Amino acid sequence: MLERIDVTVASKHYPIYIGKDLLNQSHLIIQHLSARQIMIVTNSSVAPYYLSKLQAQLHDYQCDTLILPDGEAYKTLETLATIFTHLIEHRHHRDTTLIALGGGVIGDLTGFAAACYMRGVDYLQIPTTLLAQVDAAIGGKTAVNHPQAKNLIGAFYQPNAVIIDVTTLSSLPEREFKAGLAEVIKYGLIADATFFNWLELHIDNILARDPATLTHLIKVCCQIKANLVAQDERDKGLRRLLNLGHTFAHALETGLGYGCYLHGEAVAVGLCLAAEVSQLLSNFPYSDILRIKQLIAKIGLPIALPNTLSIKQLLSLMTNDKKAKLSNLTLILLKSIGLAYCEHNVDYQWLYNYLKCK
Ligand code: NAD
Ligand code: GLY
Repeated sequence: MLERIDVTVASKHYPIYIGKDLLNQSHLIIQHLSARQIMIVTNSSVAPYYLSKLQAQLHDYQCDTLILPDGEAYKTLETLATIFTHLIEHRHHRDTTLIALGGGVIGDLTGFAAACYMRGVDYLQIPTTLLAQVDAAIGGKTAVNHPQAKNLIGAFYQPNAVIIDVTTLSSLPEREFKAGLAEVIKYGLIADATFFNWLELHIDNILARDPATLTHLIKVCCQIKANLVAQDERDKGLRRLLNLGHTFAHALETGLGYGCYLHGEAVAVGLCLAAEVSQLLSNFPYSDILRIKQLIAKIGLPIALPNTLSIKQLLSLMTNDKKAKLSNLTLILLKSIGLAYCEHNVDYQWLYNYLKCK
């Protein structure tokens, strides 16, 4: 069954299609192409699985392909330049369409290349990781990393369509799949208590990657994200609720060194910490903290801080400030499951004492 969610922002209205074997459905792709030129951007891990399938749908087009090396390390300005060179050498015009086939790294790079090439060309997102299907491919945040900071250089630039073929998740490594589930749980926590209950009930089918179950799961997440993006495309307010657990997670990732935890694994710990802090600051029920931890642990994701990072280091990274003691933090917290809010002025010393003594 083909599901469809629409994203509406000031500059654009576009569909997200979700279903099984969508890479075989050429009409879904072709209707969103502006002209007869296409460039598929993918990487060396995804290409062997899905590139020829996609190319087979596009034989009537000038379909060029760029296969990049795999990894966050390649989400750089240098790789962006490689994409531009490839486009120029293959004489791509202003009405070309780029297609991002891969996870969030490929999606962010391709989206940013589309935003810049000839001051903006069309692009499609075909995300192939769970994280990209529920988050990165939707909402038009595109970026590359700078040696000094992640995602520092980028643009808000929406795709023409997002095509989510849940069948592609069958080849995703177990660890990547589970990490993506942390973001899925986040959606239930910030906006949909019924969905959180559903996740608890269906976790076995989810872990078995049942396509119908995954289609429903991804649809709910996309709908929540589409609603937030529609109200706040530029991330000035409501969209920030998507950062539940992320202030802790980013600090953990930086403190432990990139590559130690996958992003979703760090988010899993961050969700547990955010729930605990919410209990103290907004009466979030203790019984719900236990539910969150149970679900996360059942997936096999971490629920507690590793002891290899001190609380002082963690907090200093969270405040991004060497004189962190002087600053307060802004955190996304929970009033209940399904209801998040932004808490300004969380006292540094209070948080330090809490984390140190718990
Ligand atoms: P990723 O793109 O690195 O993919 C993870 C791994 O899975 C890679 O090795 C990739 O080659 C492999 N892979 C992808 N699809 C596969 C498949 N179907 N089968 C087998 N292997 C497959 O990582 P990710 O978790 O998808 O995305 C992380 C990136 O997304 C980060 O750069 C992050 O900053 C960005 N991001 C962006 C947004 C946004 O709103 N734009 C949101 C969240 C994350
Ligand atoms: N991933 C957070 C956002 O898109 O705003």
